[in-house]
Amino acid sequence: VTLPRIGVFDSGVGGLTVLKALAERQPAHYFYFGDTARLPYGTKSAETVARYAIGATRFLESRNIDLLVIACNTATALALPQIEAAASVPVVGVVEPGAAMASEVSQARRAIVIATEATVASHAYRDALARHGVQAFEKACPLFVPLVEEGWTEHAVTEQVAQIYLGEAIRQSSNLGEAATQNGDEADVMVLACTHYPLIAPLLRRIAPAQMKIVDSAESTARVVKAMMESVSREAAGEYEDLAPSKSSDHRSFRFFVTDSVEKFKKLATRFLGRQVDNVEHVDLGG
Ligand code: DGL
Repeated sequence: VTLPRIGVFDSGVGGLTVLKALAERQPAHYFYFGDTARLPYGTKSAETVARYAIGATRFLESRNIDLLVIACNTATALALPQIEAAASVPVVGVVEPGAAMASEVSQARRAIVIATEATVASHAYRDALARHGVQAFEKACPLFVPLVEEGWTEHAVTEQVAQIYLGEAIRQSSNLGEAATQNGDEADVMVLACTHYPLIAPLLRRIAPAQMKIVDSAESTARVVKAMMESVSREAAGEYEDLAPSKSSDHRSFRFFVTDSVEKFKKLATRFLGRQVDNVEHVDLGG
């Protein structure tokens, strides 16, 4: 029985939202690397993030992975080309799948993108959306990551913060598209462009205008990986023979590697995955 070996990389625990979406769709041996000692990436420079990400890529490749998923929006936005150049396996980032999905659902061809400061500053989503003919209004929401890690996903403070951020983003998108606002063509999709935001999706849903669709880059990425693995298994004529859902829906294994405390990761991971995690090991990549 050959299952694909999929590496999943994130700056910390956030990428577990991507792992969760992946595991729901794709049977595989999953190797998750969370660079918890060096997070957050969302406030760091492109050079630093690229260096960290390449270290993580090397580590995951030493686990003989077939495919690498960059679950971190910041790492994808800042360093995807460098990671691809350093990797010897196919690499999937979260930006393009999120942009493609936003394009699929947007009628107005205008999207609000909420993300970390570094992701917004890179304009990776703006550029990816522009390639799909969608205009982006990017809004950095730096307070969301710590609020989610604090477990305040349904807290009054988070709701207030979200109201301020979304209010600003919506105002910005309608100011820039003054003419559009008059004929009702405001942004009709919001992209959750950070690993942590799916946890506050219910809260954001309540605050966002009713007609605004919410696109989650974790779900979009899982969809792309699933499609990739299906085409690989077709081409390899049964190399991954147990991919047919009927035969293989139970086949998943998980190993976690973190650069900071195993205990701290386990505690937060339970919140992100909604269940206990085992098989967590500490690794030291130095630098
Ligand atoms: N994983 C990061 C992202 O998706 C958020 C946390 C961080 O800043 O490291 O952008």
